[in-house]
Amino acid sequence: EAGRRRQRLLDLNRDAARFYYQMLQQPEGRAVQEYLDRRKIRKATAVNFGLGASLDSWDALILAMTKKGYTKSELLDAGLAVQNRNGGLYDKFRNRLMFPVIDVRGDVVAFGGRVLDKSEPKYMNSQETPVYSKRRVLYGLNLAKKSKRPNIILCEGNIDVVTLHQAGFDNAVASMGTALTVEQTRLLSRFTKELVLCYDNDNAGKIATDRALEILNNSEFSVKVLQLPRRRTEDGELVKQDADDFIKFQGKDAFEALLSGSENGIEFRMAQVAGKYDLTNDEARVAYCGEISGLLAALDNPVEREIYTTRAAETAKITPEAMKLEVQRAFRRRA
Ligand code: CTP
Ligand code: MN
Ligand code: MN
Ligand code: MN
Ligand code: MN
Repeated sequence: EAGRRRQRLLDLNRDAARFYYQMLQQPEGRAVQEYLDRRKIRKATAVNFGLGASLDSWDALILAMTKKGYTKSELLDAGLAVQNRNGGLYDKFRNRLMFPVIDVRGDVVAFGGRVLDKSEPKYMNSQETPVYSKRRVLYGLNLAKKSKRPNIILCEGNIDVVTLHQAGFDNAVASMGTALTVEQTRLLSRFTKELVLCYDNDNAGKIATDRALEILNNSEFSVKVLQLPRRRTEDGELVKQDADDFIKFQGKDAFEALLSGSENGIEFRMAQVAGKYDLTNDEARVAYCGEISGLLAALDNPVEREIYTTRAAETAKITPEAMKLEVQRAFRRRA
């Protein structure tokens, strides 16, 4: 029945993870080992995450798993094999660095695989399966749940999580490139009430931050936003970076400093709104008050609303009373 089928798929995933892991230690896994060296991921870190290597082969995994007694349909259901037009199977993950995705119970529920060069798609992930619903899983939470740090850092990518853990931030998890879901916040709430958003400082990352803040607005969580600065290259160019890049170029002490200096979610959003307006211009000030009042009206906590209403009034150089009226109007517009 369904329970037994699920267990078979979990067993298959675990055996596949073991296979990829073993391949990484073999001469066949050399290209992936070299890739890990280039990414500055140490052996102990790779072991901690159970990283592996899928080989440059069309059927290495299928052969190994068939030998262990798994069927064609189980390989397909687990998303580890793909069917070609003639009905034959081939390995879905080939020549990639493999990240097993492990849920909080410790089950291997899926895989992510990264190419070793610039080819596309950069990452391949397991499809949704009977044991994998991507909106209910966070990469790295199986380890982060044991962290002694008070909060959990949410970042975008698998490598960000691996690099952060290696640098001592063993409270990092990733939503693997997708927007944070309500299901994931419920999962997180079992382990912490303090979140730090640390998405890439590119456009996609900004959008992801806004979305996450919307989901977390008025939630039980206290939320901070860690804004990664752009990095100046040797040629003087400013480039975007993610947590992995930042740790690599600026180091863990600099990250620790950003972490302790990170703004709370409301401050972050207010700064974003203020940044859109030229507040030396009266029309822009009026427009700013219109927009910021909407944000303030959405705050359920009256103390927070009071504090930030006063702050917004200072920013707009109007009286707190005027800003309060604007917020009340915005509140009625909502209702
Ligand atoms: N992602 C994906 N498919 C892609 C690109 C990205 O599933 N084609 C997911 C991966 O989980 C990835 C995350 O989105 O880790 C963030 O994407 P991106 O920032 O582009 O990749 P990085 O994690 O920075 O990967 P790398 O540093 O290896 O380039
Ligand atoms: Mn089992
Ligand atoms: Mn990105
Ligand atoms: Mn990256
Ligand atoms: Mn990235």
